Amino acid sequence: MADQKQKPQAETGCPVKHIAFIMDGNGRWAKKRGMPREYGHKFGAEAFKKVMRRCSELGIEAATFYVFSTENWKRPQKEVDSIMKLLDEYLDECQRELEKNDVRFIFLGSKDPFPPSLRRKMEQIEERSRHSKKIVNMALNYGGRDEIVYAANRLLKCGKSKITEADFSSALYTSESPELDMIVRTGGDLRISNFLLWQAAYAELYFTDKLWPDFKEKDVDEAVENFKNRKRRFGGV
Ligand code: IPE
Ligand code: IPE
Ligand code: MG
Repeated sequence: MADQKQKPQAETGCPVKHIAFIMDGNGRWAKKRGMPREYGHKFGAEAFKKVMRRCSELGIEAATFYVFSTENWKRPQKEVDSIMKLLDEYLDECQRELEKNDVRFIFLGSKDPFPPSLRRKMEQIEERSRHSKKIVNMALNYGGRDEIVYAANRLLKCGKSKITEADFSSALYTSESPELDMIVRTGGDLRISNFLLWQAAYAELYFTDKLWPDFKEKDVDEAVENFKNRKRRFGGV
């Protein structure tokens, strides 16, 4: 029995099956330190790695991270370039550590706008990690509206004349993930910013003022604890 008590939640089952993060506040975090926004993104990437590991340790089946939105391309070129450079570096690291991490990486969003070398790396990572069970979705060039239009076009191509909610869900980028349980947004803003619009239908929302680079393992634990106290009614009583 004593042994069982020490078992991580992973083995006893985490109530959160699918969690998503709007990783906001990198720029403000850097500004507070008198540094350029790029500096915040660098530390934001470190926070992402910590949070990803923690989600896996907790036994969360799928974790989705909002890395770069369809609207983020309108930022100054210098900032976009620095994010792409960080992404490229992360994809290299990810490839090196694929076995160690034992998670399945899926990139949500069209890969078309990315340079061919980045696209190739994303495809290789998806392919090489596809047998792992736990999912990490990286939303890159992702927009909720874009995803809905993408799903509708996929269904049209199948020639269906009538579709169900289940058909629609399975045409989305997140088709491999369980139903979304919770969205965590850092940085203090109370909005969704075009993230997981379809999937958010009954997700619990969790907002914190903490800026993303300050978000740590214990903050994931706090969000999960908070989830346990939510009364989910799904329209019932
Ligand atoms: C989130 O942090 C990262 C991306 C959107 C790429 P921000 O860069 O939006 O940081 P703030 O919100 O300006 O502080
Ligand atoms: C949302 O943050 C996108 C990501 C975290 C990747 P933004 O900073 O782009 O959102 P807004 O502009 O504050 O709504
Ligand atoms: Mg922001």
